[in-house]
Amino acid sequence: MDKPIIVALDYPGRAEAEALVDRLDPNRCRLKVGKELFTRTGPALVEALVERGFDVFLDLKFHDIPNTVARACEAAADLGVWMMNVHCLGGPRMLAAAGEALAAREHRPLLIGVTVLTSMGDEELAAVGLSGSPEQNVRRLAALARENGLDGVVCSAREAAVLRADLGGQFKLVTPGIRPAWAAKGDQTRITTPADAVRDGADLLVIGRPITGAPDPLEAIARIEQELAGVAAA
Ligand code: C5P
Repeated sequence: MDKPIIVALDYPGRAEAEALVDRLDPNRCRLKVGKELFTRTGPALVEALVERGFDVFLDLKFHDIPNTVARACEAAADLGVWMMNVHCLGGPRMLAAAGEALAAREHRPLLIGVTVLTSMGDEELAAVGLSGSPEQNVRRLAALARENGLDGVVCSAREAAVLRADLGGQFKLVTPGIRPAWAAKGDQTRITTPADAVRDGADLLVIGRPITGAPDPLEAIARIEQELAGVAAA
């Protein structure tokens, strides 16, 4: 996919987020707005980013009854976002309702599913009544997402190869936990380089601190682009 870099705007407020955005180029990256920033700044920031020409991934992971999720997806689409997500555990009717709510739009945003939160290990899965390993659950829920019309899922780069094999070439795989070899790991433990993630089948890379914390964010993007160009040329 062109422009695979999605910069995670993990900031507590609009001023901090816009200070970074001022240094970014909408032709070179897309942006992710998540729960903290959205809850603090509201939809106005999202609209302003769209107005500035950025593709915005609204990462609010909707999970509610089908009608409520469908209306929330419509509201997100009204903001002009390029991509949004819902929790696959909301079930097939909720997933289908979300897809149907967006289907009629002239510029239909991409609809992505969250399968199993990577913070959950075997014990926590069992505690909420999900049997099987995290990988088995991810594969089942990703298949459910595709069957119900979603465009892709968020997954760890380490799951990308198996999901690509399961679900085919068109299904979008969006992967966080990305660290170029030159960047600090921060609190991420299971990390993958941009090149390895794309080699394993990732389409879009959610990258926060390696870009947001770099002295020159555009230079960091250029270095990642260079690394990815090496994969495309191979
Ligand atoms: O700074 P960093 O690159 O670690 O930021 C990664 C972004 O991806 C953050 O917004 C984080 O919440 C999100 N994310 C993640 N791991 C997941 C799901 C989302 O790091 N499993």
